[in-house]
Amino acid sequence: MDVRAADVDIPFISLSDGVVTLRPWSRDDAGFMAEAFADPAIRRYNGAHDRLGRPAPPMSIEDAAAIIDEFASSWRALVAAEPPTGVAFAITDAASGGLVGCCGVDDWSNADVAQFGYWIGPSARGRGYATRAVVLLTRWLFELGAARAFLTVEADNEASAAVARRAGFVHEGTMRAHSVWQGERIDVMWFAALPLEWPMREPDEPA
Ligand SMILES: CC(C)(COP(=O)(O)OP(=O)(O)OC[C@H]1O[C@@H](n2cnc3c(N)ncnc32)[C@H](O)[C@@H]1OP(=O)(O)O)[C@@H](O)C(=O)NCCC(=O)NCCS
Repeated sequence: MDVRAADVDIPFISLSDGVVTLRPWSRDDAGFMAEAFADPAIRRYNGAHDRLGRPAPPMSIEDAAAIIDEFASSWRALVAAEPPTGVAFAITDAASGGLVGCCGVDDWSNADVAQFGYWIGPSARGRGYATRAVVLLTRWLFELGAARAFLTVEADNEASAAVARRAGFVHEGTMRAHSVWQGERIDVMWFAALPLEWPMREPDEPA
């Protein structure tokens, strides 16, 4: 983990395996985020929906900048010793520095259970960026003291279930009719990893 002094007022935490680097979002990345949210799969699986499962209107660059500002608030809260709920990393190609996607912490419970999510821009899929990012993020969550890390995946999202499995997560079950998309109830799979049994754990990693 690389921790540098903040150039704005948030810490610059970056995690890398040499192929993928995770780093905090910057306002300069707002155009990339807005463009990514025009992708139907990202709107479907990561975007906001109303109670009938209708997606929110397309994201503008201003909307994306506001989301990036919220991420920055969450980073500041983390520095102030609050849980990392709401912090998000930009996923970048380590060699070029180019943006490819996003992963972030949706929730950190009082019982130290971390829930996270991710997306990869359409042109960068199929190259292992998501799996590598999930491994890096999970390792960081366990270093922060998470007792359990989990994600939920809509039952028809095979690409995301494959990421969870490749990253060493266990499919613990399926919550029937747990979500709604365009008026139809959707089953949701539940994947989790525990620090001691996680196959991606490094031998000297804290439990
Ligand atoms: C889900 C999503 C992130 C998966 O992205 P992805 O690019 O398929 O996933 P990965 O980055 O792990 O790449 C996997 C592919 O790269 C290949 N790959 C190459 N090197 C790899 C490596 N070192 N590690 C893992 N996979 C690697 C795999 O074989 C696989 O190829 P295949 O699809 O032909 O089998 C992407 O489809 C997406 O953003 N979808 C829309 C939003 C979404 O569903 N978000 C998740 C909500 S739960």
